[in-house]
Amino acid sequence: MSDESRPTPAQTPVAAVIPAAGRGVRLGPGAPKALRALNGTPMLIHAIRALAASRHVSLVVVVAPPDGAAEVKSLLDAHALPDRTDFLVVPGGESRQESVRLGLDALPPQYGIVLVHDAARPLVPVDTVDAVIEAVRDGAPAVVPVLPLADTVKEVEPAAVAGDPEAVLATPERARLRAVQTPQGFDRETLVRAHETVTENVTDDASMVEQLGPTVVAVPGHEEAFKVTRPLDLVLAEAVLARRRLNDGF
Ligand code: CTP
Ligand code: MG
Repeated sequence: MSDESRPTPAQTPVAAVIPAAGRGVRLGPGAPKALRALNGTPMLIHAIRALAASRHVSLVVVVAPPDGAAEVKSLLDAHALPDRTDFLVVPGGESRQESVRLGLDALPPQYGIVLVHDAARPLVPVDTVDAVIEAVRDGAPAVVPVLPLADTVKEVEPAAVAGDPEAVLATPERARLRAVQTPQGFDRETLVRAHETVTENVTDDASMVEQLGPTVVAVPGHEEAFKVTRPLDLVLAEAVLARRRLNDGF
């Protein structure tokens, strides 16, 4: 692209990739996690609405369970979504990392900024989404929303058998630790290069950029951006939705 035609950071179109292809083993038996309902609406629809609520996000790429792309497409048709946002659905892969890469492969060329957001974080507030986008537009190649930890964290020697006692090796200083959420935001080229270069399995996209070298920037996350992982998280998510309905005066 020539310099004259390259969009300024404030104009660079933003796309969101939503990996939603996981089974949700820790949530217990049932439908794939992203398709499970929260107050009657699939978690994935909540997550899509949360990202599409940002005026800066003009495309959402949903990475569906490998055999569930048709089902996800009909879910999108059946639920009200903003007209100004485009949607694509692609089938996912075996790992989260592979699912994200398949979503990136589907991105049209004009999107210079990419957010990656877990379908399993259906309640992220739009202000958090916008804060991540703003930090990327301000020049950070990779941005993560984070929260301080409530619990002290120990490093252990993992037991061979789950549940057996474990030796504690170290206690990192809690004040220097952060829990990482999504959406994580990236300069597209940086994220694509990270996915091409890092082959070991990772649990978040920003750590791949860390391995490449560029400094990843942390911005404040939000307690409502928690990940629905275990059954109790479903209770918490429905309580958050109930509180929002009360506050909105419904
Ligand atoms: N994910 C994905 N493709 C995979 C695995 C995970 O797109 N092969 C997505 C999940 O759908 C989820 C996000 O990555 O939105 C975060 O992963 P996690 O919370 O671990 O979800 P699951 O892998 O589905 O849950 P579990 O690990 O309990 O099976
Ligand atoms: Mg998982």
